[in-house]
Amino acid sequence: MVLDVLSNLITDVSKKIGYDENLKVIKSNRLDLCDYQCDEVFRLSKIYHKSPIEIGTSIIDALNNIENFNDYFEKVEFCKPGFINMTLSNKFINKMLKEMALNDKFNIRKNEQVKTFVIDYGGPNVAKPLHVGHMRPAIIGESIKRIINYVGHKTIADVHLGDIGLPIGEVIYKALEDKVNPEDLTLDYLNKVYPLMSAKVKTDEDLKNKCAAIIKDVQEKKNYLDYWKVICDISVNDIKRIYKYLDVSFDLWLGESDAYNYIPKVKELLIKKGLLEDSQGAKVVFVNNEDDKINYPPLIFEKSNGAYLYDSSELGTIYQRMEDFNPDYILYITDGRQSMHFNQVFRVCQLSNLTKDTKLLHLPNGTINGIDGKPYKTRSGDTPKLDDLFKEVRDIFISKKEENKTMPLSDIDKIVNSILKFADLQNSRDKDYIFDINKFSDTQGKTGPYILYTYLRINKIIEKYSSDINKISDNIYNNYDRDLRIAILDLHSSIDLAFKEYKPSYIAEYVYNLCVILNSFYQNNHIANIDDEIKLNDLLSILNLSNKIIKEMLNLLIIDIPKKM
Ligand code: ARG
Repeated sequence: MVLDVLSNLITDVSKKIGYDENLKVIKSNRLDLCDYQCDEVFRLSKIYHKSPIEIGTSIIDALNNIENFNDYFEKVEFCKPGFINMTLSNKFINKMLKEMALNDKFNIRKNEQVKTFVIDYGGPNVAKPLHVGHMRPAIIGESIKRIINYVGHKTIADVHLGDIGLPIGEVIYKALEDKVNPEDLTLDYLNKVYPLMSAKVKTDEDLKNKCAAIIKDVQEKKNYLDYWKVICDISVNDIKRIYKYLDVSFDLWLGESDAYNYIPKVKELLIKKGLLEDSQGAKVVFVNNEDDKINYPPLIFEKSNGAYLYDSSELGTIYQRMEDFNPDYILYITDGRQSMHFNQVFRVCQLSNLTKDTKLLHLPNGTINGIDGKPYKTRSGDTPKLDDLFKEVRDIFISKKEENKTMPLSDIDKIVNSILKFADLQNSRDKDYIFDINKFSDTQGKTGPYILYTYLRINKIIEKYSSDINKISDNIYNNYDRDLRIAILDLHSSIDLAFKEYKPSYIAEYVYNLCVILNSFYQNNHIANIDDEIKLNDLLSILNLSNKIIKEMLNLLIIDIPKKM
């Protein structure tokens, strides 16, 4: 990739004149002045006790004197107080583009070592219909998984179902009361009963205890297992339907209940390490440190009645993952409100050495808000179920234009997905954002439909001709053309950042910028009017490459391209 080539070059040249340091080149933050820059002169100046000007100009001189200067640069300049600015030669730009076009995954850097990542996302709860809040962890997790895979690491995606919690106890309680047998349970029944019961237990402590006792029996495999299994089956089936609509998939459909087999092993370990302590009848692990700035409550491992909780099953799951995969990383994508839970759990892992060298990371996500800045509600004022949200977006998109009414349903679903996902993934995952359906379903602006529209428009041109990247010349024809080529070269650093920070927003940002530049290229280079065969092939090759990139990057954002718009 360009950054590596330039960094190696400037490092070699500087070493020859006595600066024995690895220097890094970055994308220019003043595109009006240059394409790339190196800001390391200050660092050298401290190490070698010379002024930045002296060091900077000596590196510029050395660069200017390399024999194949034109293979890389049009010009290099020192810019006070300490920047080295580089403008690439057409020859170099086109050589890099060819390498990108001719190699798998645009010739991204190969990994030295393949790491294993367990990725825990989605986290739906059995018996509770999926609502808007479940969308972010699902699509952010899926996108992060695809990015990690794309750069060549191994991933194991686990949905981590909440399959043994109070909601199920509530539904079983009601089914018993209504005298509904397990085999007669239906999805409609669950959807009707759950909201009813969950409202009731909020004000009725006695009822809540009864439901909790039911689920405790299930946890101990004593009773109600027939109900539990049927409820899980029905609910998981429906969860799978929704994830399928979102194109989110998992390698493992394990849940909290699967962790119960491992909780005794965790308990044994905690006892062995002397970490489990009694506190008001409960068994807890103290995780606070002296220098903590905030209060870290103890992790509650076992309640006084012997029941296990979210924290205990979390540790059981980690035990299982260590045993099954011994991964290099375990990533958790959940709502930011779970940060304390993960902090406590991670501390226990460290104290007990349960996870050895495995790195555990919580990647919190922000909330989806409405235009009023409060958590998103449907037009009727409810926290929308995901099905309702899909329908709302579909209706708005269809109402935008007469032609949309006759679009095939499969294409409409792809567009709905693009609206939701591009709205979401363009934001840094840890930030809240405002979901404005009208704005995000528009074909103008930073939206899914805009990206799809751009792709399809370019595709229409490309399909009329054939082009051959091998024959791409050293020419660049105008500034729109040059801007597009340079934008293409930026791909690698965006992928790099998206992977290193686990932030799909870098990819979304990249795709959007590429599309903006692509549109002005399109408006200012009329392909149909070009007679010069070399120029025609050159520009088509660049368009081809751009669209190939958009398609692969959209795949990382879980967005599929419709046939027509
Ligand atoms: N089911 C949980 C919830 O709804 C999320 C699970 C996230 N994953 C985990 N390993 N804790 O809050």
